Amino acid sequence: MSCRVPHIDIIPKKDNSSDYLKKAHHFYEQSNFPKAYKYFVQYFESLNSISDVSPEDQGIFTGVVTKIATVLEETDDVEELLKCYLQTINLFPDNYFILNSLGAYMFKLGENDIAKKYLELALESHPYFLPVKRNLLHLSWNEMPRWHFRMMNDRLRNQAYDKAITSLISKGYKNAIDIGAGCGLLSLIASKNPEASVVAIEESKLLPECVKMY
Ligand SMILES: C[S@@+](CC[C@H](N)C(=O)[O-])C[C@H]1O[C@@H](n2cnc3c(N)ncnc32)[C@H](O)[C@@H]1O
Repeated sequence: MSCRVPHIDIIPKKDNSSDYLKKAHHFYEQSNFPKAYKYFVQYFESLNSISDVSPEDQGIFTGVVTKIATVLEETDDVEELLKCYLQTINLFPDNYFILNSLGAYMFKLGENDIAKKYLELALESHPYFLPVKRNLLHLSWNEMPRWHFRMMNDRLRNQAYDKAITSLISKGYKNAIDIGAGCGLLSLIASKNPEASVVAIEESKLLPECVKMY
């Protein structure tokens, strides 16, 4: 005769999720952010699904991470700071606020490619979040050759081109090809005349991107 014995898992006694959450809130109210962080993470890990976290709690947790990040950045604790950001992003991959902060931090460290990746993820998650647009713009400016700014701010040069191009188009030359268009300034001048057909060619992918950002 066989006897079926039910399988019993022995689970060590733990706080339940609401206890973790209560402790997280308690330490948050006491401005003890490292402990609030620890209990928030335990709370998230005790849930069946991370989607059970309320937007309010996610917002408070983001605030906690930001406070901790400020201190870690001031003390130059790169390793702990990255750990904290990455743990948060692993829990909440769409948290555009933290994605943006991590992107901005990587930019500060000079890791432009990694910065761009996180900033683009932040923008994907929230296309209207202005701080991320600003950071992407700073990143592009940083990658642009220095001489480009001097050239773009040379009023005499720009006015001379404006005069010459406008005069040609008014004489009936309506097809313009701007080879080496940069940010497209000369193309924009030519296209002031709605009858002009303008083609701009530029080898750099970055420069035309800057125009789109404006
Ligand atoms: C001196 S900038 C002039 C920019 C713009 N035309 C202006 O006047 O404001 C020259 C531009 O030509 C682009 N360029 C250079 N060689 C090129 C090529 N073979 N094909 C397309 N663009 C090129 C450079 O990337 C640079 O943006």
